[in-house]
Amino acid sequence: MKKLKNLFDNNQAWARAIKEKNPDFFTELSKQQTPDYLWIGCSDSRVPENKIVDLPAGEIFVHRNIANVVVHTDLNSLSVIQYAVEVLKVKHIIVCGHYGCGGIKAAMDNNKHGLIDNWLRHIKDVRRFHEHKLEGLSHEEKLDLLCELNVVEQVRNICNSTIVQDAWERGCELHVHGWVYDIANGTLKDLDDCISSNAQLAERNLKHQ
Ligand code: CO
Repeated sequence: MKKLKNLFDNNQAWARAIKEKNPDFFTELSKQQTPDYLWIGCSDSRVPENKIVDLPAGEIFVHRNIANVVVHTDLNSLSVIQYAVEVLKVKHIIVCGHYGCGGIKAAMDNNKHGLIDNWLRHIKDVRRFHEHKLEGLSHEEKLDLLCELNVVEQVRNICNSTIVQDAWERGCELHVHGWVYDIANGTLKDLDDCISSNAQLAERNLKHQ
C-alpha cells in the first residue's frame, strides 16, 4: 500500500482538474519555465506563495527559509537569486514576510533554541539596528514592526548583492519589493518599498539613516 495515499489521491485529482481545463498545461510547462517573479518567503506552512497570489504552477520561482532572510554569504539564496535574475530573467523579486512569524518571535525572546539561534542572529541584528523604533511599543506591536523591518532589511540585502547590482548595470528591468502577509485575514500588505535602480537604493538609504 502506498504511503501517504491521501496526498497521492489529492495529486491525481489536482492534475486531472487542470488537464480538464487546459489539456496542454503540463506538456507546455514541461518544455520550459518563464516566471516573472522570484518569491523569497518564510518556510511557514501557512504562507503558500502560489495560493496567496492565486497563480498556477510555472509562474513563481521560489526560495523559502525561516523568516525570509537573505544573508550576504548564503550560497543557497544567492544561487536562487542568480538563477532567477540571470537565466530566468525575472522582473520582480518579492520578499514576503508575515505577521505572527515564529522566527521573528524567537529572535525577540531571550530563550535558547539551539542551532537556529545562529540563523536568528540576523534578525536580532535587524532588531539592534532599529532599537529606537521599537522602544515604547507593546510586545505585539514590536513583533509586527520587526516583521516589517526585517523585510525592508532583506530587500536592501538583495539590492546590494552583486547579482542585482550587475543586473541594474546591464540595464535590466528588475524591481525588488517588500511585502508582509497577514495570516489572520489572508491579505498582503505592500510596504511601498519597491526599489528598481541604484539611484532609488541610494535615495532610500539616505531616508533610513
Ligand atoms: Co515565519
